[in-house]
Amino acid sequence: MCNVRESKKPLKLNWPELPERLFWLGIRMTEHFQAVLQRRINRRSFLKKSALATSVAFVPSLPLSAIVNAPQQNTVTETFNFSEITHGIGDELVVAAGYEHNVLIRWGDPLFSDAPDFDINSQTPFSQEQQFGYNNDYIGYLALPSKSDSQRALLCVNHEYSLPKMMFPDIHSERDLTLNHVNIEQSSVGNSIVEIQKIDRDWKVVVGSKFNRRITARTTQIEFSGPAKGHPRMQTKTDTSGVLVTGTLMNCAGGMTPWGTYLTCEENFNNVFTGSLSKDHAEYAPYERYGVNQREEGWGRLDPRFNIEATTNEPNRFGWVVEIDPLAPDEKPIKRTALGRFKHEGAESVIAPSGQLVVYMGDDAANEYLYKFVSRDVVDTKNKANNRELLDHGTLYVARFSDSGGLDWLPLEYGKAPLTPTNGFHSQADVVINARMAADLLKATPLDRPEDVVPHSHTGRVYVLLTNNTKRKQEDIDAVNPRANNQFGQIVEIAEANDDFAATEGTWDMLVVAGDPNKAEVGAKWNSNISENGWFACPDNGVVDQKGRLWVSTDQGDVAYQTGTNDGLWGLETEGGNRGKGKMFLRCPEGAEATGPMFSDDGTSLFVAVQHPGAGSRASGKDSLHDPINRWPDNEKGVPPKPSIVVVQKHDGTEIG
Ligand code: FEO
Ligand code: CA
Ligand code: CA
Repeated sequence: MCNVRESKKPLKLNWPELPERLFWLGIRMTEHFQAVLQRRINRRSFLKKSALATSVAFVPSLPLSAIVNAPQQNTVTETFNFSEITHGIGDELVVAAGYEHNVLIRWGDPLFSDAPDFDINSQTPFSQEQQFGYNNDYIGYLALPSKSDSQRALLCVNHEYSLPKMMFPDIHSERDLTLNHVNIEQSSVGNSIVEIQKIDRDWKVVVGSKFNRRITARTTQIEFSGPAKGHPRMQTKTDTSGVLVTGTLMNCAGGMTPWGTYLTCEENFNNVFTGSLSKDHAEYAPYERYGVNQREEGWGRLDPRFNIEATTNEPNRFGWVVEIDPLAPDEKPIKRTALGRFKHEGAESVIAPSGQLVVYMGDDAANEYLYKFVSRDVVDTKNKANNRELLDHGTLYVARFSDSGGLDWLPLEYGKAPLTPTNGFHSQADVVINARMAADLLKATPLDRPEDVVPHSHTGRVYVLLTNNTKRKQEDIDAVNPRANNQFGQIVEIAEANDDFAATEGTWDMLVVAGDPNKAEVGAKWNSNISENGWFACPDNGVVDQKGRLWVSTDQGDVAYQTGTNDGLWGLETEGGNRGKGKMFLRCPEGAEATGPMFSDDGTSLFVAVQHPGAGSRASGKDSLHDPINRWPDNEKGVPPKPSIVVVQKHDGTEIG
């Protein structure tokens, strides 16, 4: 939980010479790339004063001979000790031999003693607010004081988005939705805080726990703090001061702070807004940049709060990181605007050597950026109350990667060129509200959809999961985004200068270029020891376990039908001779992705949020409750597929993996 950094120096290793590195990355020397190369060479002189040319150590890469396109088995010690499962498409959830999985909680399960029973045919907004929400994603784990014969914890769960055709039997198209349906949707998303208890080997939900809580898009009052609080662009008719908003939504990934609060991230918030503004409106350009403008589908068709023609500033009140104290159910959540506004995927944090908190964050859209926030003040590890305003003061940075393996963190600070009135920035509020536009001006590096960003407190490295980017064109490839029409994603490893998470410079290396290594046209790069099932596509969520091993879950969408496997969870080696080798541990039922993987503090339980089970895609064509791909987990006629959290344990109860 508490990612307190341990100092462990990475090995020193010389960065491969440029032609070798380009070869390794599989980059063709196109005319465009010659230009990129020239820029890189020009940049080298600048880098002399940066991490690249100083004593900062490079991450130990595999020798080039170990990276190949096709699996070749070599014998090297493994850190994952489970029997790998196979790729496949099927209706069941599969875990490695010697492990079992149980459904802990499903969409619609009660959180409170007086919650109505779930009834697919008579859902109401009120009943949904008493029940576990839809499409679970991030899971935070907060241990509670436990007795010798039992273990207690709170799970902090995101409910990312609603899927009306998979939720409501009385509609056939989203055009059939009424305001009541929309209200149920708004109540089904947000967050759940759930107490769980393990007696003997069985984890159970504690229905009616004083900590159980639903936070929704429809009813929860949430405060703003930080630079954008109270700014005129945050004000609406119902909140004329710009300090209070109803709800949070599109909560994708997140993080837990070292003091035990829960950060939940608002991702695709633009999807719920409808309407359009005229070109001369001040918000026209920002809303274009955030994909809010000129949308017909969304809650705004029936709920004027989400119609930008009726409630123009409402989109500025979403796209933030929200802090929730799971131990204080009566306290309002707080949207921490100092962390910037974009399509936030996750917010994993770590304490820098100085004691400052560093929060890593991706903006998950094609050609968007990687950010980090470094707090001004140091974390009080003894008194949580002293961290209450920690996320309100600090510096927000955006990343610029160089083709030579360098990394610069560029501060998004009002008043420093180019973030000045000349360019439309009149305060730090403008900078955080329009963080994407500020990052554009700073010439940050557009990435292949940054999903989770995972700081590894044991090694000082940071893993950036780039899921895919079919919008990347051949002329826009660079070393960190090495493929055009990238359908499969890659994982980039950052080493911050001087092993300091708060550093403003660093270096980067490619951990894996994902996809099928047996197909030359895919251009995948894995460790040569990889098995037929160890490779994956479209990394989404990552977690580091108690032993310091990285686990990666995937979200392929229709790419599953190319890779021949449902989404799942893989162990991924990051060190030594097996670096870049995946190993498949868990496979989801068809239609679902494995989100939010999280371990209990003792590493003996693994929680996985199975999102959108049975929900179809363009390839399957099965996108409705009337004809889902499957009805996991109940698999009963008439019972809908239900997003659920499963808990995985080893038969002998020992540590996983
Ligand atoms: Fe909601 Fe970026 O996945
Ligand atoms: Ca995600
Ligand atoms: Ca996802």
